[in-house]
Amino acid sequence: MSLVPEKKSNPKIRHVIGVVSGKGGVGKSTVAVLLAQSLASQGRTVGLLDADITGPSIPRLLGVDTMKGESDGEHLFPIENEEGIRVLSINLFNDSEDAPVIWRGPLLAKAIEQFWQDTDWGDLDYLIIDFPPGTSDIALTALQQIPFSGIVVVTTPQDYVSMIVRKQINMASMLKAPVIGFVENMRTLVCPKCGEVIKLFDDGSDAQKALGLPILASLPWRQEVAQARSIRWSKLPEAVKKEALAIAQQVEMSVASAK
Ligand SMILES: Nc1ncnc2c1ncn2[C@@H]1O[C@H](COP(=O)(O)OP(=O)(O)OP(=O)(O)O)[C@@H](O)[C@H]1O
Ligand SMILES: [Mg+2]
Repeated sequence: MSLVPEKKSNPKIRHVIGVVSGKGGVGKSTVAVLLAQSLASQGRTVGLLDADITGPSIPRLLGVDTMKGESDGEHLFPIENEEGIRVLSINLFNDSEDAPVIWRGPLLAKAIEQFWQDTDWGDLDYLIIDFPPGTSDIALTALQQIPFSGIVVVTTPQDYVSMIVRKQINMASMLKAPVIGFVENMRTLVCPKCGEVIKLFDDGSDAQKALGLPILASLPWRQEVAQARSIRWSKLPEAVKKEALAIAQQVEMSVASAK
């Protein structure tokens, strides 16, 4: 049996970018939102699919968590946030934010299939998909079904040396999804009082080089990111915008060169 069944493309979506991580809580949703917003700020039409079912972080970060998902019985419709980003998440179909999604793997996998095939996304330059952490059923289904133009791996410096990142990268390449590079999160921190950049971990370039992929950006820990309930591009500090734009630029270069 082939691990890579025929992937079904959506002619209205030009590029699909997956944001993955080996483990949870490393900043994946934050990076997915920053990438979506930075691409949108460059005039791209962007959708963001939340494939993580543990909580409504994407709808919340993009300010659509009080809205409900819509369907006409045949198609699902994403919700557009005030920045024009089209958002879809299982959590938008949940009765309450606190309700856990009590579905078994195959049903979740089916939901991802539906989000991809039965959603009227309209024309998109980019669909960003925020994966659940690790190599779960949902991650496997998404990688098997969706033709990704590229995968961005979010890590914290401790993760380079662990096999979970390696596993994640191997899974993507086995399923023919090209890995663009890493976004390294929280190697440094910006002191909330004086703005000094404090190094929390040594430069991990050796371990990262061993994985053979570039670092697209290194995001410091920042108090304003930690405390934000939602992220608005227009309100972000210039330094964060610059880091996010660096990720977007390299993603755009990577998909352009793959054509
Ligand atoms: N650079 C940063 N500076 C400060 N806080 C950050 C930064 N990156 C992420 N965080 C915070 O860390 C927490 C986890 O981030 P996020 O939700 O993006 O991670 P995740 O990998 O998507 O987690 P999960 O596995 O739960 O989906 C959030 O509260 C977020 O605000
Ligand atoms: Mg998340």
